[in-house]
Amino acid sequence: MQEINTREVSPQLNHFEKDYDQKLRPSNFSEYIGQKKIMANIELMVQSSKMRSAALDHLLLAGPPGLGKTSLGLLLAKEMGAQMHMISGPGVEKKGDLAAVLTNLQRGDLLFIDEIHRLPIAIEEILYSAIEDFRLDIIIGQGASARTMQIDLEPFTLIGATTRSGLLSNPLRDRFQASFHFDFYNSEELALIIQNNTQKLSLSLDQEAIFEISKRSRGTPRIANRILRRVRDFIVVKGSAQGTLPDVMKAMQLLDIDHCGLDQMDRKILTVMRDYYSNGPVGIEALSATLAEDKSTIEEVYEPYLLKEGFLIRTPRGRALTEKALQFLAEVKV
Ligand SMILES: Nc1ncnc2c1ncn2[C@@H]1O[C@H](COP(=O)(O)OP(=O)(O)OP(=O)(O)O)[C@@H](O)[C@H]1O
Ligand SMILES: [Mg+2]
Repeated sequence: MQEINTREVSPQLNHFEKDYDQKLRPSNFSEYIGQKKIMANIELMVQSSKMRSAALDHLLLAGPPGLGKTSLGLLLAKEMGAQMHMISGPGVEKKGDLAAVLTNLQRGDLLFIDEIHRLPIAIEEILYSAIEDFRLDIIIGQGASARTMQIDLEPFTLIGATTRSGLLSNPLRDRFQASFHFDFYNSEELALIIQNNTQKLSLSLDQEAIFEISKRSRGTPRIANRILRRVRDFIVVKGSAQGTLPDVMKAMQLLDIDHCGLDQMDRKILTVMRDYYSNGPVGIEALSATLAEDKSTIEEVYEPYLLKEGFLIRTPRGRALTEKALQFLAEVKV
């Protein structure tokens, strides 16, 4: 039971949700809410590249899962009238796979590489000349007889998406002409996203119901969508046209999301730090072993929000609980 709940509210996308997630993707720039600074830059870059009839600059989109990196990539393709090719860093196994994708790109196409920090380094190196000079350098043969063959590529745009920009190699990071870091959304922005998405799902929700979902979504549109989905189930089952605050509260209870928007795993992290490590500081290795949870999941998915909300702080000796976290744990009695 515990495992199911944890997965249900995690900001990561689970496989069953792909269609639902796609249906709720913003379909133009005006539907893309928040991230104002990023969008101001992006809209300028799009306009300029259209006026110059040149490919858009290479972009790095970094930030925790579920904040709209893929959605923005898709919007860019639409806005530029360009073809989008999507691949995922860990899915590329051989240099030849990436070379094939690159040589197939047409002028102005977008190449979106998800989880680009997980591209194997030997394969990543192919990208350097590809994005800098639109040229592919391929080494043929080995040892003294090895020679380099060069293939010209069409001008294209690389969009790299990453949840861990810190893990990107310097040569790759330096080759992006613009790099943007996504922030968690505030509750007004989330309320607007939920409002738009209720319409897309042909639902109707009270303002206070919408507001409650926005407060409990961990600043993450994907989680807001997930809660909305469960609220929809309640509305459908009760046979009413209107979703109310009690429907939202029941959904929260089922999903085990508390009044701060923290889920079971968040609370488990805080509790383990209090009970096993005297409130910290504790290193990520030790924490990951005690929680039986992957190190990178803790770092990429859970910690950013706990840090942002002031439940955790980072010290040179590891992460530690704050007074706010201890008070919270005492209140919710976990
Ligand atoms: N700015 C936004 N405006 C409206 N809806 C948004 C916005 N950002 C995200 N969403 C919603 O959240 C969902 C998840 O966003 P998306 O898949 O783009 O996140 P992501 O950053 O690519 O996550 P991951 O790191 O897991 O790949 C989208 O389907 C969309 O419904
Ligand atoms: Mg994505």
